Amino acid sequence: MKNDITKKKISEGGLTKNEATSTVGRSKAITLDYIPEKDIWTDYSISLHYGDSLNFYHTWDRPTVIVSDGAYGVLGFEGDTSDHIHLPQWYEPHIKAWSEFALPSTTLWFWNSEIGWATIHPLLERYGWRYVGTNVWDKGKGHIAGNVNTGRIRQFPIVTELCVHYVFEPRINGLLLKEWLLAEWKRTGLPLREANTACGVADAAVRKYLDQGHLWYFPPPEKFEMLATYANEHGNPAGRPYFSLTGQSPASSEQWAMMRAKFKCPHGVINVWQRDALRNGERIKAPSGKALHLNQKPLDLMERIIEASSDISDVVWEPFGGLFSASLAASHLGRRAYAAEIDSTYYYYGLQRFISPTYQRPLL
Ligand SMILES: C[S@@+](CC[C@H](N)C(=O)[O-])C[C@H]1O[C@@H](n2cnc3c(N)ncnc32)[C@H](O)[C@@H]1O
Repeated sequence: MKNDITKKKISEGGLTKNEATSTVGRSKAITLDYIPEKDIWTDYSISLHYGDSLNFYHTWDRPTVIVSDGAYGVLGFEGDTSDHIHLPQWYEPHIKAWSEFALPSTTLWFWNSEIGWATIHPLLERYGWRYVGTNVWDKGKGHIAGNVNTGRIRQFPIVTELCVHYVFEPRINGLLLKEWLLAEWKRTGLPLREANTACGVADAAVRKYLDQGHLWYFPPPEKFEMLATYANEHGNPAGRPYFSLTGQSPASSEQWAMMRAKFKCPHGVINVWQRDALRNGERIKAPSGKALHLNQKPLDLMERIIEASSDISDVVWEPFGGLFSASLAASHLGRRAYAAEIDSTYYYYGLQRFISPTYQRPLL
């Protein structure tokens, strides 16, 4: 794949410009008069597509992490809606696709405003995403200092954005994990209390791993393997294999470990992220000096969420690329990334962060 970006003027008969969108975004710093000739740039660990992410999901490796930073309902870019009411319509085809391609270990980080997220939350739940927690990016007073006419806006000035943490709720044969664990044990014909013997614990297996309520606890992989081994040795031979994901053999501890999302929290990190809005040097600028993309996110926050929820070589999706901050963070961390950006100008400048020496920073 060619790594340089070849451009062709729209007027010279390149791809047609993006489909008309429902709205026109707030003023852009610059609009280039050309579009990429190829709709993909890749170095084989990072793939950046020009176009609508809906057209690419099926070509991407399945994600361990999805970083969504799309419409906010504030006319933030061409195609953003003008209010939160229309956000569900905007997001639904994407959320549906994420659910189709998610793994049991996939984490979704959903960036938005408070009302934007509140509007989308029921949709995410409906498509199988389980809410974990809300992280608040507090940009501090400096973000708005002296610039807000509260008499006109008639509210307290907002200096926050949310980054909401979801995991994909895996099902086996249509059952939630806790339902499946109990159903499998019952199939063995063994008494419930024997699950404790199987796991070598006093009562934790019945009280936690087979519980159907809020006390349910994901069995650690080694305990799961003990449960499965015991069930297959002592359970009714007619029903074997027990605790199998394939129908062929019992799942191993490694396979079981992949049935939930990854998460590692660096010491001292909490859910309020006090981090100034992007500083001058961090912002990608148009030749005029104006900020190129009003929604550009800080690399360190992107790195934080990606590092917390994935390992080296895992796949990160960035469906609404903008200047591809999540993909750049992914590449710094040795992850693979697939991203798309529908606006040719943003695509062009986002791509420069990967190919232009001006933006390079040592890779890990
Ligand atoms: C909020 S911005 C993302 C900013 C990005 N996180 C960054 O740090 O630069 C959303 C971007 O998604 C793009 N976009 C909107 N709909 C899209 C779609 N269906 N496929 C690809 N990109 C899309 C918009 O053009 C916009 O640049």
